[in-house]
Amino acid sequence: MNYLERFRLDGKVAIVTGGSKGLGRAIAIGMGEVGAKVVVVSRTKRLIEETANEITSRGGNAIAIPVDVRSEDDIRNAVKGTMDAFGRLDVLVNNAGIAPMNKTVNVTPEEWNDVIGTNLTSNFLFARTAVKSAMKEQRSGKIINIGSVLGFMASNMAPHYCATKAGLAHLTKAFALEWAPYNINVNCIAPGFFNTDMTKEQQEDEAHQKFLRFKIPFRRLGEPEEIVPAAIFLASEAASYITGATFVIDGGYMIW
Ligand SMILES: NC(=O)c1ccc[n+]([C@@H]2O[C@H](COP(=O)([O-])OP(=O)(O)OC[C@H]3O[C@@H](n4cnc5c(N)ncnc54)[C@H](OP(=O)(O)O)[C@@H]3O)[C@@H](O)[C@H]2O)c1
Repeated sequence: MNYLERFRLDGKVAIVTGGSKGLGRAIAIGMGEVGAKVVVVSRTKRLIEETANEITSRGGNAIAIPVDVRSEDDIRNAVKGTMDAFGRLDVLVNNAGIAPMNKTVNVTPEEWNDVIGTNLTSNFLFARTAVKSAMKEQRSGKIINIGSVLGFMASNMAPHYCATKAGLAHLTKAFALEWAPYNINVNCIAPGFFNTDMTKEQQEDEAHQKFLRFKIPFRRLGEPEEIVPAAIFLASEAASYITGATFVIDGGYMIW
């Protein structure tokens, strides 16, 4: 296999959570383009079907399975649906997430639990289901958790979000240690600020925009397509000796 071939995902089966829009949609389409069979999951059936259709219209192979990542039953169903359709599971991208902006004193226990459930517990549930149902027996797998620079730098508007993303970077290491004996690589991508629905509100806030453009050396937000190559790389054989790592992709936001 030459070096370029090592970056391809031909014959691999990948689940991408939060594939209905934003970074997850871009990752799903990118993985389909380099040969993976993609299972697109999130709650919105119409949008995940649209992502799957986009992949097939480009000559790829994809299906959509509606999943609420807070539900272990939904997760089991998605992994079973993947095994039924494609017979294996090679890549899991834990990307689904929410980021309500709120001050700690205003965060209700319900909102706190919702963010923890969607951003952190879901990764634990999805990863262990993938490992138990497929990757352990296959003796191979690649798990990619989507964290955030806010797992390292704090925000004064998202205590729950910061906690989940810091947790994910460390959970990545714990998973990597536990599952290395089965040849499963577990890594994390920590995006900076990208142009998606998640950051729409912040983009409408002029003061925040000004702060970001000052803080990001490239003076702009990232586009979803700019996260995709790293996800493909970590899902591929080219990343065979990388595990427990977090890749920061932030246009330099964390430099200073
Ligand atoms: N954009 C950024 O600047 C940025 C920066 C750092 C980290 N991130 C992280 O990157 C990931 C993707 O963010 P994004 O910017 O693409 O956000 P987005 O455009 O708001 O998309 C979020 C995705 O998560 C899915 N999702 C939310 N709750 C879910 C649930 N309970 N069950 C299943 N799917 C659910 C949504 O689908 P449905 O609504 O259809 O369920 C959607 O596909 C998140 O983990 C986010 O924290 C983003």
